[in-house]
Amino acid sequence: MKGVVLAGGLGTRMHPLTKVTNKHLLPVYNEPMIYYPIKTLVNAGIDEILIVTGGNNAGDFLRLMGNGKDFGLKHINYTYQEGEGGIAAALSLAEFFADQDQIVVMLGDNIIEKNIRSAVEAFRNQKDGARILLKEVSDPHRFGVPTFEDERVVRIDEKPVHPASMYAVIGIYMYDKTVFDFIKTLKPSQRGELEITDVNNFYIREGRMAWDVLDGWWSDAGTFESLLSASNRVAKTGANKL
Ligand code: DAU
Repeated sequence: MKGVVLAGGLGTRMHPLTKVTNKHLLPVYNEPMIYYPIKTLVNAGIDEILIVTGGNNAGDFLRLMGNGKDFGLKHINYTYQEGEGGIAAALSLAEFFADQDQIVVMLGDNIIEKNIRSAVEAFRNQKDGARILLKEVSDPHRFGVPTFEDERVVRIDEKPVHPASMYAVIGIYMYDKTVFDFIKTLKPSQRGELEITDVNNFYIREGRMAWDVLDGWWSDAGTFESLLSASNRVAKTGANKL
């Protein structure tokens, strides 16, 4: 199983902080944001990792992380996303790296308190299809939101005005090799992006999607408010606990 961290896009929501640097290089308490998803993957036993960078100062990722020694890795792979075509567009750049293997994809601005070891283990045994992680939140309208029917997720809506549940689909996704062929058929959404929610709905429609609820806190760090609250949470409890 291989890991992909998506750290592309232009981070325009966070200007002027991201005017001259990439959002994922900003500090979250005492470490650069990108460290957290890498550690989540390494903690789950994944040691082949691709970083999809983009935007400004992409070369700084290499200066910061080099071959991944700080994470106990022998090497890290890098690629570059032009522009801001969406999460699924960034993921499509990982096809060659994945090379038919199962992948765990993590958004570069997602931070968790604990670990995803049991979900990754379950996905390994699942063999094919996809797996998502959900977390109960107070503000689901900011995220992808699942609709449940008899314990089954039957649909995900991206940033719905009237959320069907109080759960968010967090930015950790597990896919089999069919994900890349599906992404090739996607059309841009109204906001002009290839949406990861459309990818997840594809697996749901095919009856090939499993889900777990994440243990411990979860935060994104992609807005001024969430960046501050993520830093405060890390300072208080630490992150990526085994
Ligand atoms: O954080 C979880 C949420 O992330 C999910 O609940 C949503 O369903 C999902 O769409 C996503 O929502 P956001 O609006 O928060 O995504 P955002 O555009 O902020 O992108 C999140 C990360 O994805 C970003 O830190 C880097 C990566 N990304 C994003 C875009 C648009 C890329 O690598 N390339 C891109 O073009």
